[in-house]
Amino acid sequence: MSEPRVDAFADPERHVMEKAYARWAPLYDMVCGPIFESGRRAAAEAARRVGGRILEVGVGTGLSFSDYDHSTRVVGIDMSAPMVAKAKARLATGRFPHVDSVMVMDASDLAFEDGAFDCVVAQFVITLVADPERVLDECARVVRPGGEIILVNHLYSEKGVGAALERLLARPARRMGLRPEFPFARLAAWAERHGAVALIERRPIKPLGVYTLVRFRRGVEERERAAA
Ligand SMILES: C[S@@+](CC[C@H](N)C(=O)[O-])C[C@H]1O[C@@H](n2cnc3c(N)ncnc32)[C@H](O)[C@@H]1O
Repeated sequence: MSEPRVDAFADPERHVMEKAYARWAPLYDMVCGPIFESGRRAAAEAARRVGGRILEVGVGTGLSFSDYDHSTRVVGIDMSAPMVAKAKARLATGRFPHVDSVMVMDASDLAFEDGAFDCVVAQFVITLVADPERVLDECARVVRPGGEIILVNHLYSEKGVGAALERLLARPARRMGLRPEFPFARLAAWAERHGAVALIERRPIKPLGVYTLVRFRRGVEERERAAA
């Protein structure tokens, strides 16, 4: 039976991503490790500057564990059981005492209390979730006032040959667990609407500038101000 047609510009369905990352898990470190390294390092570096308790959403196989240091306490979550199994094996080596735990969890429904973390990091994840705004809401909920949400991703090029290529590749990329056509404007619009989150940085990552680092700072919500 042929697979149903994928709408390239709709958000990805969860089961499509689950299937893709079950396939990726055995190969991920070898293939994607080097490709995403510059983005991963930049995001972890920004998170280390915040320090404290860090939640890494969509932690994958835990490739970023070595990018954090002993000034941080890291918890990782990912919806893919095969990817988390790899991250657990990495943790079991004992080389990452600053990582407290990794668990299977959907980023759109985080089982943590409000303000539980100083920083939430999502590396190459936000474009792949079924409901990005809901995931961002959850990230904002679990980060403390004054804390940061740090994203790194390839984002849509918007114009020129790059954008045309990204639109062309959108459909096949989806089944591979990738999404090249997610616009920055959507992240900015979310922050605008949220009310307690401010966009504080948008920066291309060297050397090639194909990835963008985006930082949000969580402020204090109206209701929290009223209760204080
Ligand atoms: C491209 S990989 C990135 C993994 C890791 N952050 C890295 O940089 O190597 C995307 C990851 O996002 C995870 N993911 C996708 N949707 C998710 C969701 N709703 N909740 C949690 N994890 C999700 C996938 O299972 C996959 O491990």
